[in-house]
Amino acid sequence: MVITICIGSSCHLKGSRKIVDQFNELIMVNKVEDKVSLNGSFCIGECMNGVCVKIDGALYSVLPETAEDFFHKEVMGRLQ
Ligand code: FES
Repeated sequence: MVITICIGSSCHLKGSRKIVDQFNELIMVNKVEDKVSLNGSFCIGECMNGVCVKIDGALYSVLPETAEDFFHKEVMGRLQ
């Protein structure tokens, strides 16, 4: 599974850096390093919906406050 987090300026202001850190930590805690790869991307033109996160091509809107729930639902939920 490939997770891409937008680190363009608008998403950066909404906390994309923090989400990258949260996801990295969640990947380690859940021991899914070999199943999930985390990438960054520049602005993907959906700034209104930031922070933009793509999983295998599908676009989601995530905030630092919702990152953990999102990870459990959309990432761990699909890996099982
Ligand atoms: S900065 Fe993330 S979509 Fe534009």
